[in-house]
Amino acid sequence: MNQEEAKKRIEILCDKINKFDYLYYIKNNPEISDEKYDKLRSELSELERLYPEFTTPDSPSQRVGVLPLGEFASVNHVSPMLSLASTANPEEIREFDSRIKRLCGDSNIIYTAEPKFDGLSIELVYENGLLARGSTRGDGRSGENITPNIKTIASIPLKLRTAAVPPLVSIRGEAIMLLKDFQKLNGRMTEKDAATFANPRNAAAGSLRQLDSRVTARRPLTFYGYEIMFIEKLRQPSSHTEELNLLKEWGFNVYSHYRFCEDIEEAIDFHTYLSSKRDTLPFEIDGVVIKVNSKTCAEDIGSRSRSPRWAIALKFKPRREITTVENIVVQVGRTGKLTPVALLKPVDVGGVTVSRATLHNADEVAKKDIRVGDTARIERAGDVIPAVVERIKTGAARGAPFIMPAVCPVCGSPIVEEGACHFCTGGLSCPSQLKRSIAHFASRGAMDIEYLGKKTVEAMVEKGILNSVEEIYTLDVKTLLTLDRFAEKSARNLLEAIEKSKNISLARFIFALGIRNAGEHTARLLADHFGSMEAVGGASYEDLIEIDEIGPEAAGSITRFFSDKKKLKIIDSLLSSGVIPYIETSVSLSLLENINFVFTGTLEEFTREEAKRLVVSLGGRISPTVSAKTDYLVAGKEPGSKYNKAVKLGISILSEYEFKKLVLK
Ligand code: IVH
Repeated sequence: MNQEEAKKRIEILCDKINKFDYLYYIKNNPEISDEKYDKLRSELSELERLYPEFTTPDSPSQRVGVLPLGEFASVNHVSPMLSLASTANPEEIREFDSRIKRLCGDSNIIYTAEPKFDGLSIELVYENGLLARGSTRGDGRSGENITPNIKTIASIPLKLRTAAVPPLVSIRGEAIMLLKDFQKLNGRMTEKDAATFANPRNAAAGSLRQLDSRVTARRPLTFYGYEIMFIEKLRQPSSHTEELNLLKEWGFNVYSHYRFCEDIEEAIDFHTYLSSKRDTLPFEIDGVVIKVNSKTCAEDIGSRSRSPRWAIALKFKPRREITTVENIVVQVGRTGKLTPVALLKPVDVGGVTVSRATLHNADEVAKKDIRVGDTARIERAGDVIPAVVERIKTGAARGAPFIMPAVCPVCGSPIVEEGACHFCTGGLSCPSQLKRSIAHFASRGAMDIEYLGKKTVEAMVEKGILNSVEEIYTLDVKTLLTLDRFAEKSARNLLEAIEKSKNISLARFIFALGIRNAGEHTARLLADHFGSMEAVGGASYEDLIEIDEIGPEAAGSITRFFSDKKKLKIIDSLLSSGVIPYIETSVSLSLLENINFVFTGTLEEFTREEAKRLVVSLGGRISPTVSAKTDYLVAGKEPGSKYNKAVKLGISILSEYEFKKLVLK
């Protein structure tokens, strides 16, 4: 490839990757497999390594972060970043409406109402369509130049997508962390024993204010645009709705379900509506922003020194509240970790009654000096467990400082200290650890056994019906009926769900095992890297530490787990009760979608387990017996009675050779 060709190819690759990023991050509609995408990325990075002079400012390679800065430089905003007047009282919104009507001399004002994102306000400056810099709000006139960090956010275009671009434009929007990403990030932090973030806003702010943009690049941030603060030459949008459309055309995320309001009551209704939907949104919002839609009208009425007159926020009830700590108890988690929990005077926090909040660990309690009788601020972020943030006032009759018990409060086993944490050494003989590890095994991110929630597991453990996870697969209707909460139908539903859970991805299966320091993310890394349960179990500490993102701590826990004979016995017994972990592949996962297979006789080229795993990994299902629902019977050597039944029912019978052709093509 000569220089000219390389330049051309780099351009093509940049355009392609930028297009796929746009489809993935903005349109939520990936059009390419991860594998092909990675190929394009590595081809580009190789070409850019050979021809660094052709690296363009909008190259996706510019998103990976650069060497750490000593400090952030201060930068003046193109246009001042005002703040927003806000209220929680709808009456004040009606007053806002009267004021606008008076100032505009018009009684027909159209408003738009949209979410008030709870993140970090950012200015983005584009010169001739290219992202030139990004900064925090700072004091409104100048902020911190965080351009390298901004570039790592995949939903921020490095180049505006339209052909006609203004010479200079300044855009305002919010950098946020989606709730799912926030939970994942905190999961990863917990795995590493690092401090977690109290809420997505702190996580977004903490991630963006990293001096090392390579750290920011690993933090899943998202950006929503909502205002064009300054635009040169190109025609100004004439309304806020037009402004949002333009932002969308340029390639930004915009919230498109905003309400177009013909009067102020509609805007207030939207606040009520969104408030009821708050827990179902993918991100945290703390209210609704109401804006005058017409730009001419907005310009006429102008701004005060700190905030515009044409917009106001109607806030939601805060997710932070103040209440009294009535007691501090200690909870024992599935790994034996002891967590101090504050029992609170019940309080409504953003629509949910909260009566317990975590205090994380003994150090945290000491640092915050929270004691029984104190008044504290608590916070609930999304569906995350409420946490005690800080002490507001010491109680008149304060309790003594909190101390961790010397033995497990549930089973009386000795306690050991590891870093900032305390652990019960009782293992699965501690009823609390047992209940929680079974509940974890059955939970949604793990084996996903419907109807086997926390309460049911607790009842089963207390009755002695369940003494370990593998006993889940030996439950029967008769046993279930001995529990108060089960009738014939619900028992059958549970058994069906248990049966269904046997087809499970290897990553989920590993996660379900509850290995310490191996959360969902690590479990997926292990599954992708090793490809089978045997290989994961056989991995040495050195093998594990080789994997990017697996540190010494996780590697240690994983090898310890797999050298524990009791744990190996549990895995064996799960596998022999028919649990078949499969590998998720990005290729033709759906080749055999919803096709039912039954196996009979001995296969020569596969073990039965391998054959089943193949079917499941391609989306197919396995059942033990032939029925009218069976699509294929795979018949090996010396087939059993299933063969005759399949013939009778007219079901297609595949030889091993035909089966192989079907699944390995
Ligand atoms: S409009 C000054 N729209 O909320 C008027 N702001 O608490 C321009 N915010 O720092 C801002 N969502 O950055 C606007 N949909 C939205 C918003 C929004 C969040 C931020 C804003 C401000 C903060 C005020």
